[in-house]
Amino acid sequence: MILVTGATGNVGRNIVDELLKSGEQVRAIARDPAKCALPSEVEVLAADLSRPETLAPALRGVDRLYLWPVFGELRGAVDAIARAGVQHVVMLSSEAVTYAAEEPHIACEKAVVESGMSWTFLRPSAFMSNDLLWIPQIAEDGVVHGVYGSSAMAPIHERDIAAVAVKSLLAAESGRIHAITGPQSLSQEERVRMLGAALGIPVRFQEVPRDRVRAQMVHYLSGFVADQLLDRRERLQGADAEVLPTVDVVTGRPAYTYAEWITHHEAEFRSALQL
Ligand SMILES: NC(=O)c1ccc[n+]([C@@H]2O[C@H](COP(=O)([O-])OP(=O)(O)OC[C@H]3O[C@@H](n4cnc5c(N)ncnc54)[C@H](OP(=O)(O)O)[C@@H]3O)[C@@H](O)[C@H]2O)c1
Repeated sequence: MILVTGATGNVGRNIVDELLKSGEQVRAIARDPAKCALPSEVEVLAADLSRPETLAPALRGVDRLYLWPVFGELRGAVDAIARAGVQHVVMLSSEAVTYAAEEPHIACEKAVVESGMSWTFLRPSAFMSNDLLWIPQIAEDGVVHGVYGSSAMAPIHERDIAAVAVKSLLAAESGRIHAITGPQSLSQEERVRMLGAALGIPVRFQEVPRDRVRAQMVHYLSGFVADQLLDRRERLQGADAEVLPTVDVVTGRPAYTYAEWITHHEAEFRSALQL
């Protein structure tokens, strides 16, 4: 039995679908199962990773688990998972652990390593799905605001992270770290242009002061970590982002391009933007 946490999230939803396609028995947790629309074959139980005492029923009979990283609160859950006899954990981490000191995924990885369970860490680059957050700004006036708009990253499709996660759950090889990127180096400015062209509407990127973006980041990160992430984006202006072959190597198929990601989400954009 495989337990998927974060099953209602961008990555988790796709993990559930792929595991079902592979014929696996899947259980999921959600804080409010009534609100989640998961396939009927999945057993969904109410549980909260930041309240480890809620996890026991969901962990019964589970041997492998996909772990969504709850910042600052994961150790209790990891201890409960290990005590329940789970053998292998595949955890969603981040590439940022390699360049930002005190980045919150570092503590999540440490908790899993110290639990003594066998583990795989997924360290993806920025998610393409972050760009869905542009919808309200596009709806308002077609202007996407951000900082260091010419700085490139190699954003990754959530389905590709899920595909690597599923292979890792099935292989259950201990101590593997998968750094995962998308197949192209793209700046925010380029992505905004591609999105506008695909939807047939005028959309442009507007540079805003760094402090405005930092003020949003410190809702979920410390100021120290936010500064390191912003400094890196500033440094990378004008350079291509590193593109890794991980999706191809692990799954045997190429990673999805940004254009394909837009196609996969076009209905969502059109509906939200009333196009
Ligand atoms: N965005 C990026 O560019 C990026 C890059 C690298 C790594 N990451 C990592 O990826 C994460 C986002 O993953 P995602 O996009 O798949 O998720 P998401 O769409 O943000 O959804 C969050 C998921 O986590 C679950 N969750 C949240 N708090 C929980 C708790 N206390 N107990 C149990 N479940 C909880 C939610 O479940 P319910 O609400 O149903 O309970 C939901 O399924 C980030 O938080 C970060 O750790 C992101």
